Amino acid sequence: MAYNLLKGKKGIIFGALNSKSLAWKVAEKAYEEGAEFILTNAPVAMRLGEVNELAEKCNAELVPADVSKQEDINHLFDVAVEKFGKIDFILHSIGMSPNVRKGLEYDELNYDFYNKTLDISAISFHKIIKTCKEKDAMNEWGSIVALSYIAAQRIFYKYNDMADAKALLESITRSFGYIYGRDKNVRINTISQSPTMTTAGQGVKGINTLFDFADKISPLGNADADDCADYCISLFSDLTRKVTMQNLYHDGGFSSMGMSQEAIDVFES
Ligand SMILES: NC(=O)c1ccc[n+]([C@@H]2O[C@H](COP(=O)([O-])OP(=O)(O)OC[C@H]3O[C@@H](n4cnc5c(N)ncnc54)[C@H](O)[C@@H]3O)[C@@H](O)[C@H]2O)c1
Repeated sequence: MAYNLLKGKKGIIFGALNSKSLAWKVAEKAYEEGAEFILTNAPVAMRLGEVNELAEKCNAELVPADVSKQEDINHLFDVAVEKFGKIDFILHSIGMSPNVRKGLEYDELNYDFYNKTLDISAISFHKIIKTCKEKDAMNEWGSIVALSYIAAQRIFYKYNDMADAKALLESITRSFGYIYGRDKNVRINTISQSPTMTTAGQGVKGINTLFDFADKISPLGNADADDCADYCISLFSDLTRKVTMQNLYHDGGFSSMGMSQEAIDVFES
């Protein structure tokens, strides 16, 4: 059901790769709620073509941008300013670790890969916000959201160097949240999402076990991609204007749990 929560709002959504992507669901719901937006992803991801389908459905312009390239980010914001004047929301839904892809363990990280993980998955958030602020591309009371994971706080062994990237992402959220809030009343938050079966999610070793474990521990069960999209929409809306610099757990209660009856039953069986 749509509530027109984003009527008249304009934005940029990073990271819709295919219909499983968290950003894909956010785009669908943002469109239903009345938003207009640009969809962007790395050129190589766009060449895979699925995102064209989403752009057509949501009447969105596609602008390729590799977030490790400052010139691509500049171009993206120039297009956004030209098209919309100012925007109201940004979704950062980007994660990539060459170390995870190559199966390197945390105590044998390749440092070139490590730099790439941090650059694409976290420092890109700083670059995007900095570019947006320098170009004065966001309306006052705009909202910027990035997607994180609880491995930033606790050990989920196979999450590897992505855990460090998420810790940095959440720290950037606080540091820039202060500055952008103080100067322009722009809010910045991360949503710490349950394990979800997306392309990036399925790249994490042992995701099926992690998914089942989290689902059994959480009183409300795992939050799925549609739930995540709903939460993002609420954060882009005017209903959350004073929420900023937060890492918001969206995990069915997982982050507050120790042991559940369901998990005890599994271990006792
Ligand atoms: N799936 C999960 O279990 C889960 C849980 C918590 C948080 N998250 C986070 O959600 C976000 C979205 O991931 P997802 O699960 O939807 O998977 P996904 O694979 O659909 O999305 C990841 C996106 O990052 C993009 N990307 C990679 N390198 C890029 C670059 N250089 N420039 C621009 N874009 C680039 C990919 O093309 C892809 O669209 C990530 O930050 C991920 O860490 C996922």
